[in-house]
Amino acid sequence: MSVGLIRPAEFRRLADLAYSNFGIHLPEKKRQLVTNKFSNTLAKRGFEDWASYIDEIENDLSGRLLLEFADRLTTNHTYFFREEAHFDILRRQILEPKITSGANFDGEQMRIWCAGCASGEEAYSLAITLFEYRGGAQPFRLPPILASDISFSALKKAKDGHYDVERLRNMPRGLRQKYFKENFPGNVTVVDHLRSAILFKRLNFMSEKFPFKKKFHAVFCRNVMIYFDDASKGGLISRLTEALEPGGLLFIGHSETISREHLGPLQSVGAAVYRKGGTA
Ligand SMILES: C[S@@+](CC[C@H](N)C(=O)[O-])C[C@H]1O[C@@H](n2cnc3c(N)ncnc32)[C@H](O)[C@@H]1O
Repeated sequence: MSVGLIRPAEFRRLADLAYSNFGIHLPEKKRQLVTNKFSNTLAKRGFEDWASYIDEIENDLSGRLLLEFADRLTTNHTYFFREEAHFDILRRQILEPKITSGANFDGEQMRIWCAGCASGEEAYSLAITLFEYRGGAQPFRLPPILASDISFSALKKAKDGHYDVERLRNMPRGLRQKYFKENFPGNVTVVDHLRSAILFKRLNFMSEKFPFKKKFHAVFCRNVMIYFDDASKGGLISRLTEALEPGGLLFIGHSETISREHLGPLQSVGAAVYRKGGTA
């Protein structure tokens, strides 16, 4: 039985949960979308109305239902080498200066954070960029990339690294052959040495403090802030900036912007790319 369109009062309760826990802003116009996204979940779990579903999330002390709610709510759309120019900028502005400064690849640390990695395509694109820069050899001390997301199911897909070949259609054949092996017809898995360049971790952007001891040379946080209102965005940008090395780069999605009041020590250095003031 369908529970029907969520009523305004219950929608506000769900929106409060999304905002206070994950910084995700759900305006009234998303009421129908939320109804569509969750109707099946409610039906499968035998809830007869929205209020009982929300009560159960709020009363679940384990927090498991809240995480499932986040999983269902977020959109994990992504693809390999999305907004490709950014990978080029990473090559020219972060990797190249390391080489010219005489970096020792095996001993040197490169720290890149793929923040909001969804099902892994962006993190693997970064790993491929690093390997390719080294002509296929190990790029820096392992693992140079941290990939995080709030969604358990997206992270599981990312860690598994299984993809339909269709998803690789825009990737040059040479890269496909080098970094993927056939699982079964129509499906591939990333090769182990590519996976070993990435550490996958669950992380909520709304956590008070990020648990990092060292700062990053580059942070890719792209197509994530679309979920957030100005206040959550401002808080996130300031914490991402804090996590960057001086001179490090922050990449955001091309459809996203950082308003002047949230720039702090960041300077725009290209389309959706910002450098933190100071030298690395
Ligand atoms: C549209 S995907 C972007 C994937 C990739 N960065 C790209 O540009 O293709 C956005 C990701 O942000 C994650 N996300 C949303 N809110 C989050 C939060 N509060 N903490 C951590 N990750 C979050 C979602 O789970 C989702 O996987």
